[in-house]
Amino acid sequence: MRAISVEPGKANSVSLDEWPEPGARDGTLLVQTLAIGVCGTDREIIAAKYGTAPPGEQRLILGHESLGRVLEAPEGSGFRVGDLVAGIVRRPDPVPCRACAGGQWDMCRNGLYTERGIKERHGYGSERFRVRSEFAVRVDPALGLCGVLTEPASVLAKAWAHIDHIGGRSPTWRPHRVLVTGAGPVGLLAAMMGRQRGLEVHVFDRNDTGPKPGLVADIGAHHHAGDIRDLEDLAPDVTIECTGADPVIAEVVQRSGADGIVCLTGISSGGRTLPFDVGAFNRRTVLRNDVIFGSVNANRAHYEAAAEALARADKAWLSRLISRRTPLERWVEAYEGREDDVKVVLAFEPL
Ligand code: BGC
Repeated sequence: MRAISVEPGKANSVSLDEWPEPGARDGTLLVQTLAIGVCGTDREIIAAKYGTAPPGEQRLILGHESLGRVLEAPEGSGFRVGDLVAGIVRRPDPVPCRACAGGQWDMCRNGLYTERGIKERHGYGSERFRVRSEFAVRVDPALGLCGVLTEPASVLAKAWAHIDHIGGRSPTWRPHRVLVTGAGPVGLLAAMMGRQRGLEVHVFDRNDTGPKPGLVADIGAHHHAGDIRDLEDLAPDVTIECTGADPVIAEVVQRSGADGIVCLTGISSGGRTLPFDVGAFNRRTVLRNDVIFGSVNANRAHYEAAAEALARADKAWLSRLISRRTPLERWVEAYEGREDDVKVVLAFEPL
């Protein structure tokens, strides 16, 4: 079978090659890959800035955002041949730490977790893959190709779940206004979930051309472009930061409303510095009971919440998030970043 792989640490070593069929060790569900989504993490792995091959191997099969159709499912697995599924990315660490032992691998405490297509475990970017049923999530067949959004949506389902937990520290917490920074797929899914909760949602993005302003407006959210400092008076109850850009982060952590919650989801590269008034930040954060927290990855409950949120969403809007779909034969194009891209999908099978 064909698979897309890289040699982690070696820039531009990505290629499509013949690989052996997936081994039984990966799980008893055999899945035919329909599509994989491409995100910034894949591009970083290709640029040799991230990613690790499985122990003892040189190459890593890419692909952590998956959509597939079940080809083989053993009795009692909870799945049937023909089901649409998405694979979970993270696997618990082998120690295991107490988070992983409790199924909360997204909260792994010792960093020894593995991630399919990212860290020490082959991804889903092969014509067929195997997965254990507890790491597969059923996707509503009505979603079709949009089911490939399950993994990015799971990251936001977790962010929202944690925002709710944190907000619950005060019995009178009632969020009203949300600021999402970044109108990429992650930001747009964060905004969509905010709207599904009936909240007033504002999305800030660098530019105001291309498909993003329309996508924001069509879920009833407000689009802002230009300088983040112009939003000084917005005072959001909840901020979900999805750019990973230093100046945006420095601004949003100092601009939330009283008892505001700021969730950071972008993984920045680091290595740059900018002036920051720590004392003023501390004073404001303390006097207003603000919370700033980071959120990464997702556990099974978050994937299930994501699958539900996608099933409830407007399918026409979701399909506009997939701005480009590239057939496997032209796979190189899928990893090129283009102006106006929202989510790029590599299609293994026509859907
Ligand atoms: C993935 C997460 C993963 C993170 C860190 C993101 O792109 O969506 O599942 O945990 O990268 O490797």
